[in-house]
Amino acid sequence: MRFQDQYQNIIEENNTNEGKEKVLEVKDLTISFKTDNGKVQAVRGVSFDLYKGETLCIVGESGSGKSVTSKAIMGILSANALVEGGQIIYQGEDLLKVSENEFHRIRGHKIGMIFQDPLSSLNPIMKIGKQITEVMIINGNHLKHKYDDLISDELIKFKNDERLLQIAKDEWKHAKKKKNNVSAEEKAKTEANYSKEKVRLSPIIAADKAALNEAKKKAKVEVGALRKEIVARHKQLRAPILERLFTFKNVKKDYADFISERRRYVSEIRVTHKEAKMRALRIMQEVGIPEPERRFNQYPFEFSGGMRQRIVIAIALTADPDILICDEPTTALDVTIQAQILELINKLKAARHMSVIFITHDLGVVANMADRVAVMYAGKIVEYGTASDVFYSPAHPYTWALLSSIPDIDSKERLEAIPGTPPNMLFPPKGDAFALRSRYALGIDFKEEPPMFVVSPTHYAASWLLDSRAPEAVLPKIVTTRIANSLKKAGVKQ
Ligand SMILES: Nc1ncnc2c1ncn2[C@@H]1O[C@H](COP(=O)(O)OP(=O)(O)O)[C@@H](O)[C@H]1O
Ligand SMILES: [Mg+2]
Repeated sequence: MRFQDQYQNIIEENNTNEGKEKVLEVKDLTISFKTDNGKVQAVRGVSFDLYKGETLCIVGESGSGKSVTSKAIMGILSANALVEGGQIIYQGEDLLKVSENEFHRIRGHKIGMIFQDPLSSLNPIMKIGKQITEVMIINGNHLKHKYDDLISDELIKFKNDERLLQIAKDEWKHAKKKKNNVSAEEKAKTEANYSKEKVRLSPIIAADKAALNEAKKKAKVEVGALRKEIVARHKQLRAPILERLFTFKNVKKDYADFISERRRYVSEIRVTHKEAKMRALRIMQEVGIPEPERRFNQYPFEFSGGMRQRIVIAIALTADPDILICDEPTTALDVTIQAQILELINKLKAARHMSVIFITHDLGVVANMADRVAVMYAGKIVEYGTASDVFYSPAHPYTWALLSSIPDIDSKERLEAIPGTPPNMLFPPKGDAFALRSRYALGIDFKEEPPMFVVSPTHYAASWLLDSRAPEAVLPKIVTTRIANSLKKAGVKQ
């Protein structure tokens, strides 16, 4: 049986997470890139589940395939990417199979993403407020589509007739140019033609324009009525939920219903500019941007790095996503600001019942964030477990190495850099890819790929050290010290 199948079976057989709702399932995801030097095997059979309301942290050194995995979920892989296999199941659909259109709908509304460098995701020459509202208006475009449909015949006729006149005009202009060897007779002819077309087309174009305006007026009325219907329906559906909610008998469920009805409604309605602005100001406040009214009209360069990242988060939130993917969102920020952004993400996750995929190269960052941790190395998940599994009983030598490399201010211990460099994914190593850099490597590590061993029902690791025949490996002292230290501090969720 293949490694990935085994892993998949293990997850399915040992499902102690029963009762928890899965919002996303990544199964055996395999992605390469075609390059001039050959095929880069960036992601090699990655599987994980994301549960509702949980934060999954994906941790690994640079180049391990974290961003490629998240880009695949977002459907924004670069053109030379090759999805060689796997599934990304979201709400019963495989995101790798849905049509482009469908993907946009899902991405726009349900899965939001923020990146390492907030500047690269903001438009430097557009005011912040517009950047936030623009997304809302583009996303909430169901009624806009309806409106566009209703006026499309008139619009096309108008544009076509206008173009006919433009063609005649261009011909004449071209003939008039000095350098052209066009005879005087020919020039006169194009000019006459243009005049004739102008006379013929002007009234037609005027009529087209009138018809278009008429169509716009009618469409506005029709869309307005539809809008009213949608709002009325929302109010009607919301009323009993609110009633239940204010009995305070089952607040958790009733609030979840309230939120899901609001999501449904938001996805149906086109946001007006005024509404968009009101919402933008509210969200700016929610993400901790002081004086949102004033800030609304400023440009990205007028904001600090931390504030810019808050704006990027605000933009992601406008769509009310139920999954938020954060790809190294704090790497470019200094430490105090980093802590604030992490706190903000935690706060938003709780308040909005979101699930979060948090990607980082720094295991130290995830201690206060993660419910679950997936450790990635060379395109694979080598250890997967709850935060306490991974922090208190790490099982893979690579995880030990990551834990040893976290700078620890409390213990005076020097941080230990991981020796060597990550492998070149044009030629992934055989067996355990980390063996070359590991002082715990066994002979078999260089020959055969370790299967996913079950450490506990929630905890798996792919290391031959977990095989019953393996010699006992003693955790590095620095790791045991750190575990003891972090147990003292109360930060990690148990
Ligand atoms: N467009 C691309 N073309 C070729 N190789 C790529 C491309 N994007 C990523 N890679 C390679 O895929 C591997 C994983 O990259 P990535 O997911 O960005 O790593 P990280 O874990 O640092 O986010 C790396 O070896 C990287 O060089
Ligand atoms: Mg990355």
